[in-house]
Amino acid sequence: MLGVVFTEFMDMVEDRFSADMVDDIIDDAAVSSGGAYTAVGRYDHKEMVALVAALSRHSGLAVDDLIHAFGHHLFGRFVERYPVFFSEVHSPVDFLMSVETHIHTEVRKLYPDAELPSIKSQPIGATQIEVEYASVRPFGILAQGLIEGAMRHFETPCRIHREILETGAKNRVRFVIDMS
Ligand code: HEM
Repeated sequence: MLGVVFTEFMDMVEDRFSADMVDDIIDDAAVSSGGAYTAVGRYDHKEMVALVAALSRHSGLAVDDLIHAFGHHLFGRFVERYPVFFSEVHSPVDFLMSVETHIHTEVRKLYPDAELPSIKSQPIGATQIEVEYASVRPFGILAQGLIEGAMRHFETPCRIHREILETGAKNRVRFVIDMS
């Protein structure tokens, strides 16, 4: 997993909790990299799972709630870091459709060894869109936080229905976003 995901996670922990919390969870998770993350480095995604579990133990908050909140945070940072992906699209549907066909494709060109999920989106009628997340990594809830971040960015109120289709070696989650 790209280091930028880790550095953003640590920034969120420092902002929402404290710098001491960052040190505590690195110690507690006993990550093999030692926890000195750089944005352009690469780290095992299992370190992220261990850090979130440690943060859950230290904060008393549920793992899923923490990953979900991280999705909101990360989306805001993507908007700041990569404005080009947001200047050309003007609706949340066009944006969600562009994640697979354009955004993650460009990320892969920049970082050929990026570990990206498949994010397949298709409109259902005029007011709904279906998004299917698939990855060997278990970050479907992160995808939900990112989707919510996108809907908020485009100022589009919605209800999101989540259906977990598969867990384990492969993770698949289907979201139906209802904008009616
Ligand atoms: C709603 C929109 C998006 C969704 C649902 C989404 C979903 C995800 C998820 C869940 C991951 C974690 C890896 C995995 O689960 O396999 C990921 C990784 C990533 N995404 Fe996206 N993403 C979205 C938009 C974006 C945008 C706007 C950017 C900005 C350019 C971006 C760039 C990246 C990068 C750099 C990674 C890390 C790749 C790595 O660790 O090697 N994504 N994405």
